[in-house]
Amino acid sequence: MCAQTLLTGQTLTFSGDPLVTPWAEAVQINSAGGVLLDGARIVAVGDARALRAAHPQARHIDYGRDLICPGFVDAHVHYPQTAMIASWGKRLIDWLATYTFPEEARFADPDYAALIAARYLDLTAAQGTTTVASFATVHPGSVDALFAAAAQRGQCVVTGKTCMDRNAPDDLRDTAQSAYDDSKALIARWQGKGRAQYAITPRFSPTSTPDQLRALGALWAEHPDCLMQTHLSEQPDEVAWVRTLYPQARDYLDTYEAHGLLGARGLYGHAIHLTPREIDRLAEVQGRVIHCPTSNAFIGSGALDLMALARRGVPLGLATDTGGGSSFSMLHTMAAAYEAGQHHGQALHAAQLMWLATQGSARSLHLEGEIGSLAAGRFADLAVLDLASTPAIAQRANRSADVWEDVFATIMMGDDRAVRATWIGGACVTG
Ligand code: GUN
Ligand code: ZN
Repeated sequence: MCAQTLLTGQTLTFSGDPLVTPWAEAVQINSAGGVLLDGARIVAVGDARALRAAHPQARHIDYGRDLICPGFVDAHVHYPQTAMIASWGKRLIDWLATYTFPEEARFADPDYAALIAARYLDLTAAQGTTTVASFATVHPGSVDALFAAAAQRGQCVVTGKTCMDRNAPDDLRDTAQSAYDDSKALIARWQGKGRAQYAITPRFSPTSTPDQLRALGALWAEHPDCLMQTHLSEQPDEVAWVRTLYPQARDYLDTYEAHGLLGARGLYGHAIHLTPREIDRLAEVQGRVIHCPTSNAFIGSGALDLMALARRGVPLGLATDTGGGSSFSMLHTMAAAYEAGQHHGQALHAAQLMWLATQGSARSLHLEGEIGSLAAGRFADLAVLDLASTPAIAQRANRSADVWEDVFATIMMGDDRAVRATWIGGACVTG
Protein backbone atom coordinates (compact mmCIF):
# COMPACT_ATOMS: atom_id res chain seq x y z
CA MET A 1 0.00 0.00 0.00
CA CYS A 2 1.20 3.48 -0.86
CA ALA A 3 1.82 5.67 2.18
CA GLN A 4 2.68 8.78 0.21
CA THR A 5 0.36 11.75 -0.25
CA LEU A 6 0.99 14.68 -2.57
CA LEU A 7 -0.67 17.98 -1.67
CA THR A 8 -0.68 20.62 -4.38
CA GLY A 9 -1.65 24.27 -4.21
CA GLN A 10 0.18 27.50 -3.44
CA THR A 11 3.05 26.70 -1.07
CA LEU A 12 4.79 28.95 1.46
CA THR A 13 8.49 28.32 2.08
CA PHE A 14 11.30 30.13 3.90
CA SER A 15 14.97 30.61 3.12
CA GLY A 16 15.82 33.15 5.83
CA ASP A 17 14.56 35.31 8.67
CA PRO A 18 12.40 38.12 7.23
CA LEU A 19 12.76 40.21 10.38
CA VAL A 20 16.48 40.68 9.70
CA THR A 21 16.75 40.25 5.90
CA PRO A 22 14.41 41.75 3.27
CA TRP A 23 11.21 39.70 3.37
CA ALA A 24 11.25 39.03 -0.37
CA GLU A 25 14.61 37.28 -0.03
CA ALA A 26 13.48 35.18 2.92
CA VAL A 27 9.94 34.05 2.10
CA GLN A 28 8.54 32.54 -1.11
CA ILE A 29 5.12 31.54 -2.39
CA ASN A 30 5.06 29.02 -5.24
CA SER A 31 1.72 29.44 -7.04
CA ALA A 32 1.94 25.87 -8.39
CA GLY A 33 3.70 24.10 -5.55
CA GLY A 34 3.54 20.67 -4.00
CA VAL A 35 4.36 18.96 -0.71
CA LEU A 36 4.95 15.20 -0.64
CA LEU A 37 4.17 13.43 2.64
CA ASP A 38 5.35 9.99 3.64
CA GLY A 39 3.84 8.83 6.91
CA ALA A 40 4.25 11.55 9.51
CA ARG A 41 6.93 13.50 7.63
CA ILE A 42 7.39 15.76 4.63
CA VAL A 43 9.74 14.10 2.16
CA ALA A 44 9.81 16.60 -0.71
CA VAL A 45 8.72 20.15 -1.52
CA GLY A 46 8.79 21.65 -5.02
CA ASP A 47 6.82 22.28 -8.19
CA ALA A 48 3.52 20.42 -8.37
CA ARG A 49 4.05 19.22 -11.90
CA ALA A 50 7.50 17.76 -11.24
CA LEU A 51 6.39 16.08 -8.01
CA ARG A 52 3.37 14.52 -9.76
CA ALA A 53 5.59 13.18 -12.52
CA ALA A 54 8.14 11.78 -10.09
CA HIS A 55 5.56 10.25 -7.71
CA PRO A 56 2.64 9.03 -9.84
CA GLN A 57 1.72 6.42 -7.20
CA ALA A 58 1.11 9.01 -4.46
CA ARG A 59 -2.45 9.82 -3.39
CA HIS A 60 -3.07 13.33 -4.77
CA ILE A 61 -5.05 16.11 -3.07
CA ASP A 62 -5.26 19.33 -5.06
CA TYR A 63 -5.96 22.42 -2.97
CA GLY A 64 -6.13 24.68 -6.03
CA ARG A 65 -5.48 28.35 -5.08
CA ASP A 66 -5.37 27.60 -1.33
CA LEU A 67 -2.17 28.36 0.53
CA ILE A 68 -0.42 25.32 1.99
CA CYS A 69 1.71 26.57 4.87
CA PRO A 70 3.38 25.17 7.97
CA GLY A 71 0.90 24.60 10.82
CA PHE A 72 0.78 27.52 13.21
CA VAL A 73 2.97 27.34 16.31
CA ASP A 74 1.46 29.18 19.29
CA ALA A 75 4.43 29.79 21.58
CA HIS A 76 2.67 30.93 24.79
CA VAL A 77 -0.80 29.83 25.92
CA HIS A 78 -2.64 28.71 29.02
CA TYR A 79 -4.83 25.78 27.96
CA PRO A 80 -6.49 25.73 31.42
CA GLN A 81 -7.92 29.19 30.66
CA THR A 82 -9.92 27.87 27.67
CA ALA A 83 -13.31 28.06 29.40
CA MET A 84 -12.79 31.58 30.82
CA ILE A 85 -11.44 33.30 27.69
CA ALA A 86 -12.98 36.75 27.13
CA SER A 87 -13.62 37.60 30.80
CA TRP A 88 -14.60 41.23 31.22
CA GLY A 89 -13.24 44.29 32.88
CA LYS A 90 -9.92 43.60 34.65
CA ARG A 91 -6.24 44.28 34.28
CA LEU A 92 -3.55 41.69 34.92
CA ILE A 93 -3.35 41.25 38.70
CA ASP A 94 -7.14 41.57 39.28
CA TRP A 95 -7.84 39.44 36.23
CA LEU A 96 -5.68 36.64 37.65
CA ALA A 97 -7.37 36.80 41.07
CA THR A 98 -10.94 37.22 39.79
CA TYR A 99 -11.11 34.85 36.84
CA THR A 100 -7.94 32.85 36.34
CA PHE A 101 -7.14 31.35 39.73
CA PRO A 102 -10.72 30.08 40.42
CA GLU A 103 -10.76 28.39 37.00
CA GLU A 104 -7.30 26.87 37.44
CA ALA A 105 -8.39 25.44 40.83
CA ARG A 106 -10.87 23.21 38.94
CA PHE A 107 -7.90 21.32 37.43
CA ALA A 108 -7.43 19.44 40.71
CA ASP A 109 -9.99 17.13 39.06
CA PRO A 110 -8.19 15.03 36.39
CA ASP A 111 -11.45 14.45 34.51
CA TYR A 112 -11.95 18.19 34.13
CA ALA A 113 -8.33 18.58 32.99
CA ALA A 114 -8.83 15.85 30.37
CA LEU A 115 -12.07 17.45 29.16
CA ILE A 116 -10.49 20.89 28.68
CA ALA A 117 -7.25 19.53 27.19
CA ALA A 118 -9.22 17.70 24.46
CA ARG A 119 -11.49 20.69 23.90
CA TYR A 120 -8.50 23.02 23.64
CA LEU A 121 -6.65 20.88 21.09
CA ASP A 122 -9.83 20.55 18.99
CA LEU A 123 -10.45 24.31 19.06
CA THR A 124 -6.89 25.17 18.11
CA ALA A 125 -6.63 22.53 15.37
CA ALA A 126 -9.71 24.14 13.80
CA GLN A 127 -7.66 27.36 13.68
CA GLY A 128 -4.71 25.71 11.91
CA THR A 129 -2.58 25.51 15.04
CA THR A 130 -0.51 22.34 15.22
CA THR A 131 1.88 22.99 18.15
CA VAL A 132 1.43 25.01 21.35
CA ALA A 133 3.64 25.85 24.30
CA SER A 134 1.17 25.88 27.17
CA PHE A 135 1.27 26.60 30.85
CA ALA A 136 -0.62 23.90 32.77
CA THR A 137 -1.84 24.52 36.34
CA VAL A 138 -0.13 23.79 39.64
CA HIS A 139 -1.56 20.25 39.49
CA PRO A 140 0.73 17.62 37.90
CA GLY A 141 -2.39 15.92 36.51
CA SER A 142 -3.02 18.96 34.31
CA VAL A 143 0.31 18.28 32.57
CA ASP A 144 -0.54 14.60 32.12
CA ALA A 145 -3.90 15.59 30.62
CA LEU A 146 -2.43 17.80 27.88
CA PHE A 147 0.46 15.49 27.00
CA ALA A 148 -1.92 12.51 26.86
CA ALA A 149 -4.42 14.33 24.62
CA ALA A 150 -1.58 15.46 22.34
CA ALA A 151 -0.08 11.95 22.17
CA GLN A 152 -3.47 10.61 21.10
CA ARG A 153 -3.41 13.10 18.20
CA GLY A 154 0.26 12.48 17.31
CA GLN A 155 0.82 16.15 18.15
CA CYS A 156 3.87 18.01 19.45
CA VAL A 157 3.10 20.13 22.51
CA VAL A 158 5.26 21.84 25.08
CA THR A 159 3.87 22.13 28.59
CA GLY A 160 4.85 22.09 32.24
CA LYS A 161 3.45 22.28 35.75
CA THR A 162 2.91 25.91 36.74
CA CYS A 163 4.80 26.59 39.95
CA MET A 164 3.55 29.12 42.55
CA ASP A 165 4.42 29.20 46.24
CA ARG A 166 3.18 32.68 47.16
CA ASN A 167 0.64 35.35 46.19
CA ALA A 168 -1.83 32.72 45.05
CA PRO A 169 -4.82 31.00 46.75
CA ASP A 170 -4.06 28.15 49.18
CA ASP A 171 -5.37 25.49 46.83
CA LEU A 172 -3.07 26.67 44.01
CA ARG A 173 0.15 26.92 46.01
CA ASP A 174 2.98 24.41 46.03
CA THR A 175 6.33 24.81 47.81
CA ALA A 176 9.88 25.19 46.57
CA GLN A 177 10.51 21.51 47.29
CA SER A 178 7.24 20.12 45.89
CA ALA A 179 7.57 22.26 42.76
CA TYR A 180 11.04 20.79 42.22
CA ASP A 181 9.95 17.20 43.00
CA ASP A 182 6.74 17.27 40.96
CA SER A 183 8.40 18.94 37.97
CA LYS A 184 11.28 16.44 38.08
CA ALA A 185 8.87 13.51 38.15
CA LEU A 186 6.97 14.97 35.18
CA ILE A 187 10.21 15.41 33.24
CA ALA A 188 11.04 11.75 33.86
CA ARG A 189 7.54 10.75 32.74
CA TRP A 190 7.24 12.90 29.61
CA GLN A 191 10.34 14.67 28.31
CA GLY A 192 11.12 13.42 24.81
CA LYS A 193 8.46 10.68 24.96
CA GLY A 194 6.98 10.71 21.48
CA ARG A 195 6.59 14.38 20.58
CA ALA A 196 6.28 15.67 24.19
CA GLN A 197 8.54 18.55 25.24
CA TYR A 198 8.66 19.59 28.89
CA ALA A 199 9.03 23.22 29.97
CA ILE A 200 9.96 24.07 33.55
CA THR A 201 7.29 26.64 34.40
CA PRO A 202 7.55 29.23 37.17
CA ARG A 203 4.38 31.31 36.50
CA PHE A 204 6.19 34.64 37.11
CA SER A 205 8.42 36.14 39.78
CA PRO A 206 5.55 37.56 41.91
CA THR A 207 4.10 34.08 42.55
CA SER A 208 7.40 32.40 43.42
CA THR A 209 9.65 32.93 46.42
CA PRO A 210 13.36 33.30 45.70
CA ASP A 211 13.71 29.76 47.14
CA GLN A 212 11.32 28.39 44.56
CA LEU A 213 13.01 30.19 41.66
CA ARG A 214 16.37 28.84 42.90
CA ALA A 215 15.02 25.27 43.11
CA LEU A 216 13.65 25.52 39.56
CA GLY A 217 16.92 27.03 38.32
CA ALA A 218 18.74 24.03 39.81
CA LEU A 219 16.27 21.68 38.13
CA TRP A 220 16.87 23.37 34.76
CA ALA A 221 20.63 22.96 35.21
CA GLU A 222 20.03 19.24 35.79
CA HIS A 223 17.80 19.04 32.68
CA PRO A 224 19.26 21.54 30.21
CA ASP A 225 17.39 19.89 27.33
CA CYS A 226 14.11 21.17 28.80
CA LEU A 227 12.64 24.53 27.93
CA MET A 228 11.75 27.05 30.64
CA GLN A 229 8.70 29.30 30.24
CA THR A 230 7.51 32.28 32.27
CA HIS A 231 6.22 35.87 32.05
CA LEU A 232 8.27 39.05 31.95
CA SER A 233 7.37 42.77 32.20
CA GLU A 234 3.78 42.56 31.00
CA GLN A 235 2.29 45.56 32.87
CA PRO A 236 3.89 48.52 34.68
CA ASP A 237 2.07 47.67 37.97
CA GLU A 238 3.50 44.16 37.80
CA VAL A 239 7.03 45.50 37.18
CA ALA A 240 6.67 47.81 40.22
CA TRP A 241 5.44 44.88 42.34
CA VAL A 242 8.45 42.78 41.31
CA ARG A 243 10.72 45.65 42.42
CA THR A 244 9.23 45.51 45.95
CA LEU A 245 9.35 41.70 46.11
CA TYR A 246 12.97 41.46 44.88
CA PRO A 247 14.70 44.61 46.21
CA GLN A 248 18.17 43.25 45.36
CA ALA A 249 17.38 42.64 41.70
CA ARG A 250 18.67 45.07 39.07
CA ASP A 251 15.41 44.68 37.14
CA TYR A 252 12.67 42.11 36.41
CA LEU A 253 14.88 39.95 34.16
CA ASP A 254 17.49 39.81 36.91
CA THR A 255 15.00 38.05 39.22
CA TYR A 256 15.23 35.13 36.79
CA GLU A 257 18.94 35.41 36.04
CA ALA A 258 19.89 35.50 39.74
CA HIS A 259 18.18 32.14 40.20
CA GLY A 260 19.49 30.30 37.13
CA LEU A 261 16.43 30.95 34.98
CA LEU A 262 17.92 32.92 32.09
CA GLY A 263 19.08 31.17 28.95
CA ALA A 264 18.54 30.48 25.28
CA ARG A 265 16.00 27.78 26.08
CA GLY A 266 14.06 30.29 28.19
CA LEU A 267 10.74 31.63 26.84
CA TYR A 268 9.76 35.03 28.21
CA GLY A 269 6.15 35.98 27.48
CA HIS A 270 5.16 39.62 26.78
CA ALA A 271 8.40 41.51 27.65
CA ILE A 272 6.85 44.86 26.75
CA HIS A 273 8.29 47.20 29.39
CA LEU A 274 11.99 46.31 29.27
CA THR A 275 14.99 48.44 30.21
CA PRO A 276 17.90 48.74 27.76
CA ARG A 277 19.92 46.43 30.04
CA GLU A 278 17.27 43.73 29.89
CA ILE A 279 17.15 43.93 26.09
CA ASP A 280 20.94 43.71 25.86
CA ARG A 281 20.99 40.72 28.19
CA LEU A 282 18.23 38.87 26.33
CA ALA A 283 20.10 39.43 23.06
CA GLU A 284 23.37 38.29 24.61
CA VAL A 285 22.00 34.99 25.93
CA GLN A 286 19.48 34.58 23.06
CA GLY A 287 16.55 34.34 25.48
CA ARG A 288 13.30 34.06 23.54
CA VAL A 289 10.73 36.86 23.71
CA ILE A 290 7.20 35.71 22.93
CA HIS A 291 4.95 38.41 21.53
CA CYS A 292 1.32 38.14 22.73
CA PRO A 293 -0.42 41.03 20.94
CA THR A 294 -4.12 40.13 21.37
CA SER A 295 -3.54 39.62 25.08
CA ASN A 296 -1.53 42.81 25.36
CA ALA A 297 -4.43 44.73 23.83
CA PHE A 298 -7.16 42.87 25.76
CA ILE A 299 -5.63 43.23 29.24
CA GLY A 300 -4.35 46.72 28.45
CA SER A 301 -0.66 45.85 28.77
CA GLY A 302 0.69 47.96 25.88
CA ALA A 303 2.12 47.49 22.40
CA LEU A 304 5.44 45.65 22.14
CA ASP A 305 8.05 47.29 19.89
CA LEU A 306 8.80 44.01 18.13
CA MET A 307 11.12 45.37 15.44
CA ALA A 308 13.26 47.16 18.03
CA LEU A 309 13.91 43.75 19.63
CA ALA A 310 14.45 42.08 16.25
CA ARG A 311 17.02 44.72 15.30
CA ARG A 312 18.90 43.99 18.53
CA GLY A 313 19.00 40.30 17.67
CA VAL A 314 16.48 39.03 20.25
CA PRO A 315 14.80 35.85 18.89
CA LEU A 316 11.02 36.27 18.67
CA GLY A 317 7.96 34.07 18.65
CA LEU A 318 4.24 34.79 18.40
CA ALA A 319 1.41 33.63 20.66
CA THR A 320 -2.25 33.98 21.55
CA ASP A 321 -1.74 33.80 25.35
CA THR A 322 -5.26 32.38 25.69
CA GLY A 323 -7.21 33.15 27.87
CA GLY A 324 -5.51 36.54 28.50
CA GLY A 325 -5.56 36.66 24.72
CA SER A 326 -9.04 37.06 23.33
CA SER A 327 -8.80 34.52 20.51
CA PHE A 328 -7.57 31.01 19.74
CA SER A 329 -6.69 32.13 16.21
CA MET A 330 -3.14 32.75 15.04
CA LEU A 331 -4.63 34.71 12.12
CA HIS A 332 -6.17 37.13 14.63
CA THR A 333 -2.88 37.15 16.50
CA MET A 334 -0.96 38.10 13.34
CA ALA A 335 -3.52 40.89 12.74
CA ALA A 336 -2.96 42.15 16.29
CA ALA A 337 0.82 42.01 15.76
CA TYR A 338 0.35 44.16 12.67
CA GLU A 339 -1.71 46.65 14.67
CA ALA A 340 0.81 46.71 17.54
CA GLY A 341 3.57 47.40 15.00
CA GLN A 342 1.62 50.36 13.64
CA HIS A 343 1.83 51.97 17.12
CA HIS A 344 5.59 52.04 16.60
CA GLY A 345 5.55 53.12 12.94
CA GLN A 346 6.33 49.59 11.75
CA ALA A 347 4.12 48.02 9.10
CA LEU A 348 4.93 44.32 9.31
CA HIS A 349 4.58 42.56 5.95
CA ALA A 350 2.33 39.51 5.55
CA ALA A 351 5.49 37.46 4.90
CA GLN A 352 6.95 38.56 8.23
CA LEU A 353 3.69 37.80 10.06
CA MET A 354 3.40 34.32 8.53
CA TRP A 355 7.03 33.62 9.40
CA LEU A 356 6.51 34.71 13.01
CA ALA A 357 3.46 32.43 13.39
CA THR A 358 5.31 29.39 12.05
CA GLN A 359 9.10 29.28 11.72
CA GLY A 360 9.72 32.13 14.20
CA SER A 361 7.69 30.47 16.93
CA ALA A 362 9.23 27.07 16.11
CA ARG A 363 12.69 28.59 16.47
CA SER A 364 11.69 30.08 19.83
CA LEU A 365 10.92 26.57 20.99
CA HIS A 366 14.18 25.20 19.49
CA LEU A 367 12.02 22.97 17.30
CA GLU A 368 12.80 24.51 13.91
CA GLY A 369 14.43 21.23 12.82
CA GLU A 370 11.11 19.41 13.36
CA ILE A 371 8.27 21.86 12.68
CA GLY A 372 7.51 25.35 11.38
CA SER A 373 8.47 24.97 7.71
CA LEU A 374 7.65 23.07 4.57
CA ALA A 375 10.89 21.21 4.08
CA ALA A 376 11.98 17.61 3.64
CA GLY A 377 12.46 15.90 6.99
CA ARG A 378 10.06 18.10 8.96
CA PHE A 379 6.88 16.72 10.48
CA ALA A 380 3.89 17.02 8.17
CA ASP A 381 2.14 19.57 10.40
CA LEU A 382 0.34 21.87 7.96
CA ALA A 383 -2.40 24.45 7.65
CA VAL A 384 -4.22 24.93 4.36
CA LEU A 385 -5.73 28.42 4.03
CA ASP A 386 -8.60 29.42 1.75
CA LEU A 387 -7.57 32.94 0.68
CA ALA A 388 -11.18 33.90 -0.21
CA SER A 389 -13.05 32.35 2.73
CA THR A 390 -15.79 34.96 3.19
CA PRO A 391 -17.53 37.36 0.80
CA ALA A 392 -15.70 40.29 2.44
CA ILE A 393 -12.29 38.68 1.96
CA ALA A 394 -13.12 37.36 -1.53
CA GLN A 395 -14.10 40.81 -2.82
CA ARG A 396 -10.86 42.27 -1.43
CA ALA A 397 -8.83 39.43 -2.94
CA ASN A 398 -10.42 40.26 -6.30
CA ARG A 399 -8.61 43.59 -6.19
CA SER A 400 -5.22 42.13 -5.20
CA ALA A 401 -2.19 42.98 -7.27
CA ASP A 402 -0.35 39.90 -5.99
CA VAL A 403 -0.76 36.90 -3.72
CA TRP A 404 0.68 38.76 -0.73
CA GLU A 405 -2.30 41.12 -0.79
CA ASP A 406 -4.54 38.05 -0.62
CA VAL A 407 -2.58 36.67 2.32
CA PHE A 408 -2.71 40.01 4.11
CA ALA A 409 -6.51 40.27 3.70
CA THR A 410 -6.89 36.77 5.18
CA ILE A 411 -4.59 37.68 8.07
CA MET A 412 -6.54 40.84 8.84
CA MET A 413 -10.10 39.51 8.31
CA GLY A 414 -9.83 35.71 8.41
CA ASP A 415 -10.87 33.24 11.09
CA ASP A 416 -11.43 29.49 11.31
CA ARG A 417 -13.50 29.65 8.11
CA ALA A 418 -10.22 30.34 6.29
CA VAL A 419 -8.70 27.09 7.55
CA ARG A 420 -9.57 24.57 4.84
CA ALA A 421 -7.62 21.76 6.51
CA THR A 422 -5.15 21.09 9.30
CA TRP A 423 -2.67 18.23 9.05
CA ILE A 424 -0.85 16.87 12.08
CA GLY A 425 1.86 14.23 11.72
CA GLY A 426 0.73 13.41 8.19
CA ALA A 427 -2.96 12.99 9.06
CA CYS A 428 -5.69 15.42 8.10
CA VAL A 429 -7.46 16.24 11.38
CA THR A 430 -9.99 18.79 10.08
CA GLY A 431 -11.60 19.64 6.79
N1 GUN B 1 1.18 36.64 34.32
C1 GUN B 1 1.15 35.67 35.24
N2 GUN B 1 0.21 34.75 34.95
C2 GUN B 1 -0.39 35.15 33.82
C3 GUN B 1 -1.44 34.62 33.02
O1 GUN B 1 -2.04 33.58 33.30
N3 GUN B 1 -1.77 35.34 31.92
C4 GUN B 1 -1.12 36.48 31.57
N4 GUN B 1 -1.50 37.13 30.48
N5 GUN B 1 -0.15 37.00 32.31
C5 GUN B 1 0.22 36.35 33.42
ZN1 ZN C 1 0.68 33.95 29.81
